[in-house]
Amino acid sequence: MFHVGPIKVDPPLVLAPMEDVTSLPMRLICKRIAQPGLVFTEFVSAMAIHHGAMKTLKKMKIHPEERPLAIQIFGAEPEIMAETARIAEEMGADIVDINMGCWVPKVCKTGSGAALLKDPDQATKIVDSVVKAVKVPVTVKVRAGWDYSSFAAPELARRFQDCGIKMLTLHARFAKQGFEGEADWDLIRRLRESVSVPLIGNGDIKTPEDALKMIRETGCDGVMVGRVAISNPWALRAISEGLQGKPITCDPTIEERIETALLHARLQIAQEAEVETFEESRTVHNIALHEQRAVRSLRGQLPMYIKGIPGAAQIRAELYRCDSYEDIERAMYSIDRTLVVACS
Ligand SMILES: Cc1cc2nc3c(=O)[nH]c(=O)nc-3n(C[C@H](O)[C@H](O)[C@H](O)COP(=O)(O)O)c2cc1C
Repeated sequence: MFHVGPIKVDPPLVLAPMEDVTSLPMRLICKRIAQPGLVFTEFVSAMAIHHGAMKTLKKMKIHPEERPLAIQIFGAEPEIMAETARIAEEMGADIVDINMGCWVPKVCKTGSGAALLKDPDQATKIVDSVVKAVKVPVTVKVRAGWDYSSFAAPELARRFQDCGIKMLTLHARFAKQGFEGEADWDLIRRLRESVSVPLIGNGDIKTPEDALKMIRETGCDGVMVGRVAISNPWALRAISEGLQGKPITCDPTIEERIETALLHARLQIAQEAEVETFEESRTVHNIALHEQRAVRSLRGQLPMYIKGIPGAAQIRAELYRCDSYEDIERAMYSIDRTLVVACS
């Protein structure tokens, strides 16, 4: 357990921000099954919010069940970042996090994300401006530096702490690496020496053993987990249980995986139709359009719920052609649910 300002994070497990993945439906499912201590929204463009993009504003919609929650924002202009942070606070964020880890060109070429690792003065101005703009705790997620020649994180951490941040997360890779190679957890250990606020380690955690090892070897206060949780909230549950010293619950049955995938689809459709429940969505004008959009947005994620089970390849192809909830249900219910999954 650790605290981000007044916010208690228990267990010390954080669901990572992931673009087009950590939507409200995915976060709710993770929260119900794994109970991580803190969840993050995907990153939200401050510039898009500034220009009134409704689609971007919707990414800030939160549900009381998922608290505590951090809304992550990115941008290059201190004033515009401050304005977006205030909106995030109004939307109910418990924490506002600043992204300084995104390495993709569309983000970095605007001077945002990991590009800020190369410009400590601008990065500090942004943090200072955001901290002054809101009452909720402000945190930052960084990579180690732009490339191997510059381990920028310790110096940035000192400056950000002086501005008043309440937590720092390190994805233990350099921006230039993208997702190549292994995360170098020793960078987390080295950063620990420069950081007095809670430090969260991130990169390549897949199991409870990995999470415990990262904490033991680096001295970080908590761990952040991303890719392994995509369509697999049970992997996150195992890590959560491991961190709490609890016995690890068995892998889900096929039935559970199918029902969770269907729940994900229903929540996504409700979200797209801008109503609270799937049942309500059935009465919305133009539902076929919302439904198609929601179902198509899950094409990458739904097949992953059934990864590895016999016949998954064929179902994956079917899921790819789905345009409605009924299509998904038909594809999922064609799976032999009596198959037994070994308990690991
Ligand atoms: C699909 C995807 C989208 C991501 N989007 C974001 C993002 O919006 N903000 C961010 O700070 N990191 C983002 N990341 C990075 C993750 O938060 C995390 O740092 C990275 O995946 C390493 O953790 P892992 O090894 O547990 O996946 C993204 C990663 C993935 C795979």
